[in-house]
Amino acid sequence: MDKHKILCVVGTRPEAIKMAPVILALKEHPAFECRVLATAQHRNLLDQVLRVFGIEPDMDLDIMQPDQTLAALTARLLPALDDVLQAEKPDVVLAQGDTTTVMAVALASFYRRIPFGHVEAGLRTWNMAYPFPEEMNRVVTGKLTKWHFAPTESACQNLLKEGVGESNIFVTGNTVIDALLSVAKREIPLPFNLDSSKRLILVTAHRRENFGAPFREICRAILTLADHNKDVQVVYPVHPNPNVCETASQVLGNHSRITLCEPLDYLPFVAAMKQAFLILSDSGGVQEEAPALGKPVLVLRNETERPEAVAEGVVKLVGADCDRIVGEAQHLLDDGAAYRRMARGVSPYGDGRAAGRIASVLRDYFAACV
Ligand code: UD1
Ligand code: UDP
Repeated sequence: MDKHKILCVVGTRPEAIKMAPVILALKEHPAFECRVLATAQHRNLLDQVLRVFGIEPDMDLDIMQPDQTLAALTARLLPALDDVLQAEKPDVVLAQGDTTTVMAVALASFYRRIPFGHVEAGLRTWNMAYPFPEEMNRVVTGKLTKWHFAPTESACQNLLKEGVGESNIFVTGNTVIDALLSVAKREIPLPFNLDSSKRLILVTAHRRENFGAPFREICRAILTLADHNKDVQVVYPVHPNPNVCETASQVLGNHSRITLCEPLDYLPFVAAMKQAFLILSDSGGVQEEAPALGKPVLVLRNETERPEAVAEGVVKLVGADCDRIVGEAQHLLDDGAAYRRMARGVSPYGDGRAAGRIASVLRDYFAACV
């Protein structure tokens, strides 16, 4: 029997983390030939993750340029993706999330009339400006998608509201929980020493809509928290986007209890989340992983497309205002009961079996075609 050729496309760190379980499930499945294309919208961050999961791309577009603009990135991606689609002729293309890579590959697949499956479909803030440009990427991708793999029931409802047919939506859970559970039990040392007498605040931040003044506010808040709490140490693996790392090192580079470091490999980052008392982040993936590890997250944004953990009370939106961030974090540092209410291990985003469900949907589709 001929195998069905599935092309999985990954561009950035979170896509690789969330597609890794899907790629591994498809590679194991006898019905599929799984090919992997790296656009390398991220170069080093992508390579780190692929190494961790033992995935070697079959093709690599090596597209990243320093401080790339959205337009130039999109313009480089489309013809390069089209060349691959023309040469490979996959039966299905799969990609995850809301990056420029995903929007471009959904469009390139549409132009070649190749059916596209969207992993982590249906997330919406209903505000095109937040997150920017990701909300647009999701909406455009959704219009071009045949299989919408929605992580949660509320993501499914969003798609129904937009008029997507019920038979095209599959609620699978989020593959990030598959990835997390596959590594979370491993004891991995951190690449720096922590003082076990101090409480760890782990920070990540990289959103384009926070660049400039909001990001300086976030950095001032981190500095204030470190100054006011002698029993707190901050670890901040800084995203390599130049709009982030320059400000981070200017404001935070010189404090004895703040460690700025390179982005951590996925395993040490998970180890750092496990050791954290509190996480401050504007990351999508961290909002999903931390609740499963029982770690409170203060989200450095005003809106989220991931309302489930907020509704559970284990994640809170605090925006990018210095006083608000300091106030909310200080409350959790000082009030044990408030902290415990947020530090419950809940996993509204999945049970670790999402990738298997995605493979089954595709298997059933091809079985019905013969
Ligand atoms: C991208 C995604 C964002 C996602 C984030 C995950 C878009 C528009 N943005 O944002 O949705 O949440 O990735 O981290 O798709 N860089 C490096 N090395 C790397 C990665 C990035 O040096 O491995 C630097 C480069 O200068 C690059 C810049 O960061 O030009 C921006 O990268 P880009 O992928 O355009 O945007 P991100 O802010 O990383
Ligand atoms: N992450 C990592 N190392 C780090 C910071 C984050 O491996 O130093 C992981 C994190 O566990 C999560 C993912 O990267 O799975 C989130 O990626 P990012 O915040 O870059 O993007 P987003 O999820 O916001 O799109």
